[in-house]
Amino acid sequence: MNLCIAGGRIVDPAQGLDATGDIYFSEGRVAAIRGESVAAGELPEGETERIDAAGMLVLPGLIDLHVHFRDPGFTEKEDIHTGCAAAAAGGFTTVCMMPNLRPVTDTAEAVAALRARAEGIDALPIGAVTLGQKGETTVDAAALKAAGACALSEDGRSVADASIMLAGMRAAAEAGLPIFDHTEDDALRGTAAGEACMAARNLILARESGVKYHLCHISAKLSLDFIRAMKAAGYDITAETAPHYFVFDQSRATDGNFKMNPPLRTAEDVAAVIEALKDGTLDAIATDHAPHCAAEKECGYERALNGVIGLETSFPVSYTALVRAGHIPLSRLVSLMSANPAAILGAPKRGTLRVGAYADAAVFDVSRPYRIAPASFRSKGRNTPFAGMEVYGKTRLTVAGGRIVYRDQK
Ligand code: DOR
Ligand code: ZN
Ligand code: ZN
Repeated sequence: MNLCIAGGRIVDPAQGLDATGDIYFSEGRVAAIRGESVAAGELPEGETERIDAAGMLVLPGLIDLHVHFRDPGFTEKEDIHTGCAAAAAGGFTTVCMMPNLRPVTDTAEAVAALRARAEGIDALPIGAVTLGQKGETTVDAAALKAAGACALSEDGRSVADASIMLAGMRAAAEAGLPIFDHTEDDALRGTAAGEACMAARNLILARESGVKYHLCHISAKLSLDFIRAMKAAGYDITAETAPHYFVFDQSRATDGNFKMNPPLRTAEDVAAVIEALKDGTLDAIATDHAPHCAAEKECGYERALNGVIGLETSFPVSYTALVRAGHIPLSRLVSLMSANPAAILGAPKRGTLRVGAYADAAVFDVSRPYRIAPASFRSKGRNTPFAGMEVYGKTRLTVAGGRIVYRDQK
């Protein structure tokens, strides 16, 4: 059965489109768009389910380059089933799953097993850089790529030994995989300088190896100033931040639900993250969705584990804090959450509603506010710093591969 999302405002910066109209999906692809100023593709034949989206935003399915689904090994926190459901509820149709699992995603078998378990949306495994994330022996990058890995990352930590990191980057480059890098110097753990120092070292190693290099969860002005300068000097690199880093400063870091690694930083850092989202120093908004059990977070800031969830709040929080607040236009937010992550993954059929692209789309209601209510989350996690916040951008519908994978109850 074909699907038509009718009468919404279709915003797709990848094709310079912002128009009210109808979009048609057929056989898992975008078939046609019809609107005031646009007529692309051929209307599909056969039966079509029509969904009214008047007054709503219709966007390419969102892409999250950085999630932790805790499966296998920590399924009391999350599993692939609940992780994929949370992603769909947030308007995400592609997510990339970090490898800090038990066992670590460091073999072709582990990658293939994860790859086969995505439900509804597409969940792509990221392989580790070293076996067991021990920082000693690099993985078989070509085998991981062949099994379906979308990148390599040591997320949770950095590879301390520069020669091993360089070897891992060379292997990734040869296999055609990007590195998604958690940059943290162990000796300067948690500090802005530690984030920036490891970013600087690894950026040099990335240049030396020729690998496609992406920086994870950048939070500090020091790192952003450095990344901006390196981009100006011609380094072909990309970087992400996460919503908590442009909404909260360290004055909120007194409750376990505001604890993550890297941590919340100064008000000056928050302003620098927003500036970097505006000027292109940052390319993507990821969530670093990191579920934990209540007891692991509700035990005081000092004892709480690092990590907050984000899949079911990322779009509304970002829309409200960046677009409604007047920092960036909507088209820029859509680029940060779909087109740019697709480019980082080298996936031209994702992150756009062009005719022929995957039928991945999300419909959001930005006409009235609602309060974030963790009890309604599909995720097993409740560890969000955004509970109770009034936001715009409720997900009304998510379509992945042409099928409805989430529909708002009301
Ligand atoms: O806050 C974090 N949580 N930062 C990381 O680097 C890892 C993540 C996790 O796996 O919980
Ligand atoms: Zn990390
Ligand atoms: Zn992470």
